Amino acid sequence: MTTSQVSFTRQDSYSAQYYFSITHTDAYWKEEASHLTWMRPFEKIKETSFSPGEVDIRWFNGGKLNVSENCLDRHLKTRSDQAAIIWESDDGKETRTLSYSELLNQVCLFASALLELGIRKGDTVTLYMPMVPETAIAILACARIGAVHNVIFAGFSSDALAERMADAGSKLVITANEGLRGGKIIPLKTYVDRARQYCRETLGHEVRQTIVLKRTDSKTAWEPGIDHWWHELMIPTAPVVEPVAMDAEDPLFILYTSGSTGKAKGLVHTTAGYLVYAHSTFRFLAGDSRIFWCTADVGWITGHTYMLYAPLCAGLTTVMYEGIPGSPSADRLATIIDRHNVDMLYTAPTLIRSLMSAGNAALGNSHRTSLRRLGTVGEPINPEAWRWYRDVFGNGRCPVIDTWWQTETGGIMIAPVSGENKPGAAATPLFGIRADIVDDEGHPVPPMTRGNLVIRDSWPGQARTIYGDHARFEETYFSTVPGCYFTGDGAWQDEDGHFWISGRVDDVLNVSGHRLGTAEIESAITSHPAVCEVAVVGQPHPVKGESVYAFVTLMNGQKVSDSLSTELRVRVREKIGALAVPEVIHWTPYLPKTRSGKILRRVLRKLAAGETRDLGDLSSLADQEGLSAFLQQK
Ligand code: PRX
Repeated sequence: MTTSQVSFTRQDSYSAQYYFSITHTDAYWKEEASHLTWMRPFEKIKETSFSPGEVDIRWFNGGKLNVSENCLDRHLKTRSDQAAIIWESDDGKETRTLSYSELLNQVCLFASALLELGIRKGDTVTLYMPMVPETAIAILACARIGAVHNVIFAGFSSDALAERMADAGSKLVITANEGLRGGKIIPLKTYVDRARQYCRETLGHEVRQTIVLKRTDSKTAWEPGIDHWWHELMIPTAPVVEPVAMDAEDPLFILYTSGSTGKAKGLVHTTAGYLVYAHSTFRFLAGDSRIFWCTADVGWITGHTYMLYAPLCAGLTTVMYEGIPGSPSADRLATIIDRHNVDMLYTAPTLIRSLMSAGNAALGNSHRTSLRRLGTVGEPINPEAWRWYRDVFGNGRCPVIDTWWQTETGGIMIAPVSGENKPGAAATPLFGIRADIVDDEGHPVPPMTRGNLVIRDSWPGQARTIYGDHARFEETYFSTVPGCYFTGDGAWQDEDGHFWISGRVDDVLNVSGHRLGTAEIESAITSHPAVCEVAVVGQPHPVKGESVYAFVTLMNGQKVSDSLSTELRVRVREKIGALAVPEVIHWTPYLPKTRSGKILRRVLRKLAAGETRDLGDLSSLADQEGLSAFLQQK
């Protein structure tokens, strides 16, 4: 079935279809699941519980299928020669097109290589890769043999990579000798070597093997027997690897994301529910487009679902760009659209804002006439950027689809599917999604009132657990509002019932669409011996949405200096990555706290935003005089 055959038409009433989808859940999802190829039909559609202490999520139990078969083999009859992936290199000088049959062939060869190296169903394989077709090949090969992939964004540091590899119990890591991004060379293999050493010596976990793609001609350190070149493993005469029949609830991947407390969480997504949901939601996003470009890196959930799995499952052509879409010049994005006739672009507000600020330079000599749809994801989009995207970048001809979702949700949850489109509103829940807004006690709030966004019932794409820590999964998502999935986002509904997302209500930052946990950044900074206490908050930023703002108090006798702020920034870069480095380090002898010693972040957020006049309710503040002194010092 093509996406156009199943796409929602405006003549159908959204409300009627939505009502059907949430009152006849089984019937709705049975129909959605029927668009996939199953090796064995499922017996039960939904067995889920959000009850505290008993959270258990299972979909399509009894069914068997393979994700790579759904993304590749089943298209061969009709699309064997059609482009599955169009790739463009960082410098724009190289392009590669892989047809569906070529992609399947490469996936089989790599699957065979993984088997040769002893990887089996259920083993975890980490990827620390640039945006190249081999990354897609490796992911699909894991899915083909039932290995669980664990993609780590290549902007994370070697320490962060090590922690995630150890936590996931990874047996093997796939990388490149070097990555190329925005004209910069990233020594990925060197980082992997360091991470493997840190894993072994500090975390007590051995990642036994490395596969290395030769992306550049530079030499790299090599450990025979451990390191394997990608090209030497791809043996053309290898036997064809048939897709393994996976149980619906077998894990497909782990993807780490930041939370408000503690270390990053490895969210587990499973085979059938994830793919049904990715495929089902994709038609609302892509409509009947054929050449789809999602600019997200594969290291994030958007890259997983809408750069890779959903477009391939639907038989489209997905565009993959190695570099940064606004680099080296602002018109890069537009040039790629024209060159490859992209008809749908799915990107992040931060990029739209930076292009908007570049003005005509962002358009260059491009026409962008191939575009038919525009999408955004990752953070709230301000109406000005939304209008520029639609009217200038999209020539006023394309709808803008603002999509709200999360790593945890697997796919889009809220988007303007009813046909009405207001700048800045993610609008309406997708079919089957029971979204609601409640106050801190869990009671629904009236229209035009801000509250917490919750989801009242399960959907197939939902993450099933946090790898190795189901108690944390329950605590994080199901304890705040019992019986509901707690998103961590604030939202309000307008008089038409449309949802407007206002941002996180917890201590999670959104910097250029990248999700960062304040706790992780704070722990990186406090690891410096001169530092006594740290509180990290987000500061509004015109392009990035938010930037990292750190309030730091020093140990007695320690002095503020430029070199100390450099050292703290280096710590964050080493522990997490450049994306988390604070833009501002605010030295202070004082942090506002409650009488029980809890830092009043709400007050700090206001201070970082320069809103010193109205600091809100300060009745719980322990030291009022300290705050007055702090404000005077500012
Ligand atoms: O705060 C919301 C914001 O991004 C968070 C999820 O981040 P992550 O798991 O990294 O996934 C990003 C891409 C799916 C959400 O909790 N967010 C995502 N999309 C939107 C958004 N905020 C407002 N509007 C959106 N469309």
